[in-house]
Amino acid sequence: MSLTKDLEKIKKSALAAIGGADSTDRLEEIKVAYLGRKGELTAFLKNISSLPAAEKPKAGKAANEVKLAIESALAEKSAGLSSNEMERLLETKALDTSLPGRIPSVGGRHVLTQIVDEIVGIFLGLGYKVAEGPEVELDWYNFEALNMPPEHPARSLQDTLYVNAGREAVLRTHTSPVQVRVMEKQKPPVYVIAPGRVFRRDVTDPTHSPMFHQIEGFAVDRNVNFGHLIGTLETFIHQLFGTERRVRLRPHFFPYTEPSAEVDVSCIACGGKGCRVCGHNGWLEILGCGMIDPNVFKNVGYDPEEYSGFAFGMGVERIAMLRYGISDIRLFFENDIRFLRQFT
Ligand code: DAH
Repeated sequence: MSLTKDLEKIKKSALAAIGGADSTDRLEEIKVAYLGRKGELTAFLKNISSLPAAEKPKAGKAANEVKLAIESALAEKSAGLSSNEMERLLETKALDTSLPGRIPSVGGRHVLTQIVDEIVGIFLGLGYKVAEGPEVELDWYNFEALNMPPEHPARSLQDTLYVNAGREAVLRTHTSPVQVRVMEKQKPPVYVIAPGRVFRRDVTDPTHSPMFHQIEGFAVDRNVNFGHLIGTLETFIHQLFGTERRVRLRPHFFPYTEPSAEVDVSCIACGGKGCRVCGHNGWLEILGCGMIDPNVFKNVGYDPEEYSGFAFGMGVERIAMLRYGISDIRLFFENDIRFLRQFT
């Protein structure tokens, strides 16, 4: 009977197609091809209505059985395929949570920044305020107002980098001009600490760099005397290097202070017995200081009869080199990560 044969044919080809399907997408196509609105089995079912009444029930029953067989084959295959596909996805696309993460590298403050922050912090603790000045400075602030008129021999002590041909603008050779800028703007009492970069016409070698850092400090008030300067510097040095350090002042000359001194600390490497760091004399020179010269006060409009003050200046690289036993200043500026990492 051709009806049953047709049904058998449909069933056979559907099951074969299902058996050969290699993806759930393909399976969906097969489902549509047989059971969809325009599918082969659907067409067969539609034809049943035109059959003689006696044949209808039998044909309907047979067609239904085929439909059920196709549906269950589809369901079974679909379950198998989707678990295969999931496995394949897991193999190729899945996130492997057992992989170690990539740790982002964390930066740190440069060793010079750390020293500056530490020194400035000590003076903040003593009631000082931070001030800054420009790196391109006028001759007036860098020299003239600091008691170094154009013909002053002290100017030759500083190898200056000039910014313009007329030489009115310079790269500041020290942080002392910040004293003048602050005093021009503010009346005493002033207690100021001023860190910054300075520049000199130096050829680079293990102890010289055309750019380095200084920290300036100064205090102006009524009745400030040399004892206050010594006490302040001793307090500072004991906080920075330890209370066991001894402090020594040697007479010196600076145009903007009178009297002036250089300050030594007992060697932080050997404690004063004498070693390679201190050149076997037990002392390290770490700053210059003095009582602010009356001429400087006159230049900023302070009355030297009413006010007095002290000032001091130190090199940051030098202090860092002494503290950490660094023998070449260039290491600070080459930014070799192997060097920098040791201080974070
Ligand atoms: N300006 C000096 C220098 O560059 C350091 C200095 C010495 C600063 C004496 C001062 C001072 O304020 O009073 O070497």
